[in-house]
Amino acid sequence: DDAEQQVEFDRKIAEEQKIEPTDWMPDDYRKNLVRQMSQHAHSEVIGMQPEGNWITRAPTLRRKAVLLAKVQDEAGHGLYLYSATETLGTSRSEMIEALQTRKAKYASIFNYPTLTWADVGAIGWLVDGAAIVNQISLQRTSYGPYSRAMIRICKEESFHQRQGYEIMYSLAKGSPEQKQMAQDAMNRFWWPSLMMFGPHDSDSAHSGRSMKWKIKRQSNDDLRQKFIDQTVPQIEVLGLEMPDPEIKWNEERGHYDSGEIDWEEFYQVINGSGPCNHQRLKHHINAHEKGEWVREAVRAYRVKQQEKSAE
Ligand code: ACO
Repeated sequence: DDAEQQVEFDRKIAEEQKIEPTDWMPDDYRKNLVRQMSQHAHSEVIGMQPEGNWITRAPTLRRKAVLLAKVQDEAGHGLYLYSATETLGTSRSEMIEALQTRKAKYASIFNYPTLTWADVGAIGWLVDGAAIVNQISLQRTSYGPYSRAMIRICKEESFHQRQGYEIMYSLAKGSPEQKQMAQDAMNRFWWPSLMMFGPHDSDSAHSGRSMKWKIKRQSNDDLRQKFIDQTVPQIEVLGLEMPDPEIKWNEERGHYDSGEIDWEEFYQVINGSGPCNHQRLKHHINAHEKGEWVREAVRAYRVKQQEKSAE
């Protein structure tokens, strides 16, 4: 019965065993996973838009080929995560519907515009850099399919982070105008990158249960601090000015101190009023509608196969 199943589930979680799709799991565990994983998938897919904006304008053939590959990887991550979420009994079309009707969120960062080529560098470096810090931690998440998806995705993300940093490095060591572009892109993407880790732990609605169930392994604030600590020395290598005047090494804590995030901006963006929210969803809906003929063809093929096998 359920009580026994619960004991078995708790034992697996305590012993660091993975929960697999056919295993019993509490309803709220399943629900919380569907919420987080589907939003993660949506983020990968919506995240193609700001970078896709620069594919046709990449400065060289090499940059274009690299960016194209990177954006395709993001599509792959989205599909991989949708598949992992489907193992929990939620269909892809239900998830897409939730995204398009704003019931499901996606990462706030993708609601900011990409104004210059340097933004492509800043996204690879900072946004994918932040995503890796979060996703490395999620490699140890308790749900098997999610954990395995993270292992594979992190390998690709590290290439993305390096391609971004290489763009930033070239610009930061280039002409004064190029260096200024790099500085400006970093300044604009710094705070939204810190927001990717979510609200402070004290304001995080889901963290308590997610940590107990080992869906999340490290807290929003701990991961954010890790990202700051690893990124500040990279800013120094680039020779750029710090994006936050309050960044300062704290010997006692053994971490960098930094300024406070503008939480009002954060909540505006996650609740639909960021600079590009409307544009991102509109584009997604249009692309989805244009793809209807593919889904139609799949359905027709399935019917045909069923008729054949019934003969
Ligand atoms: N952007 C959009 N929404 C956010 C963000 C953000 N940066 N941070 C928090 N939220 C949302 C949560 O989804 C939640 O909303 P919901 O109840 O409608 O689902 C709400 O704000 C409260 O936040 P938390 O209680 O802290 O939520 P949670 O415990 O899920 O932690 C976090 C948020 C850290 C983003 C977590 O969901 C996570 O680790 N997700 C997987 C990683 C991910 O989605 N990465 C996408 C990054 S982009 C990329 O991969 C390229």
